[in-house]
Amino acid sequence: MSTQTRKVAVITGASQGIGAGLVVAYRKLGYAVVATSRSIAASPDPEILTVQGDIADRATAESIIAAGLEQFGRIDTLVNNAGIFISNAFTEFSRSEYDAVLGVNLTGFFRVTQLAIQQMLTQGAGHVVQITSTLADRADSNVTSVLAALTKGGLHSATRALAIEYATRGIRSNAIALGAIMTPMTEGYWDVLASLHPVGRMGEVSDVVDAAMYLETAPFVTGEILHVDGGQIAGH
Ligand SMILES: NC(=O)c1ccc[n+]([C@@H]2O[C@H](COP(=O)([O-])OP(=O)(O)OC[C@H]3O[C@@H](n4cnc5c(N)ncnc54)[C@H](OP(=O)(O)O)[C@@H]3O)[C@@H](O)[C@H]2O)c1
Repeated sequence: MSTQTRKVAVITGASQGIGAGLVVAYRKLGYAVVATSRSIAASPDPEILTVQGDIADRATAESIIAAGLEQFGRIDTLVNNAGIFISNAFTEFSRSEYDAVLGVNLTGFFRVTQLAIQQMLTQGAGHVVQITSTLADRADSNVTSVLAALTKGGLHSATRALAIEYATRGIRSNAIALGAIMTPMTEGYWDVLASLHPVGRMGEVSDVVDAAMYLETAPFVTGEILHVDGGQIAGH
């Protein structure tokens, strides 16, 4: 495939868990990938460019998009996957916990998305996907999660606002809202977290990848919050 037509996806939080699964899936779809996180290692695949940096730092967003454009010449998809989760009683959240969660989940979304969409506008098409949580829509008495609700709920609203702002300019915006998925983030808690889902099991990275591949190949779908949560959104 020529470098003019081969699509390019930027995936944040790509060193492990869901992000690492998305890198493999986008490569199978034929995309070149810009994979980024603080600790990500270089890839032997010439179609995977890795960029290290803290996504909460605006300079990281700038180097990700600049390096992607220099290497591959275009940006077609951005998956805002980097995220952290801290559970605490609302009154116990510390200033540093607040700063950390807002820094990665919200500031980490904002600048890289601005820069990616600027590029997508010049190309006349693009797709932005946020990886979020059903906890933003359905609080659960078993999981104290106001900072997750604040940040991932903000991303849900931003997903829809972006979908509307760019609907006529070829750029789609969607989110994938998750239940508990078996990744390093949830390791050690899989038995207890499985019981939070109506289906009674944990989700797998492949469940998230399937949803991402659907959204990537669904040109009439924008502004969607696709729940991949074993039924949590329906109730319990
Ligand atoms: N797993 C779940 O049950 C679950 C449920 C709901 C939502 N989610 C969401 O799904 C997304 C992926 O979660 P996961 O389970 O795959 O998490 P994970 O296994 O903890 O991986 C998180 C990824 O984000 C990167 N990251 C963390 N802080 C970063 C920072 N400051 N700057 C840049 N990259 C950073 C990490 O790499 P480095 O350490 O190298 O930076 C890693 O690649 C997150 O947005 C999470 O909130 C997950």
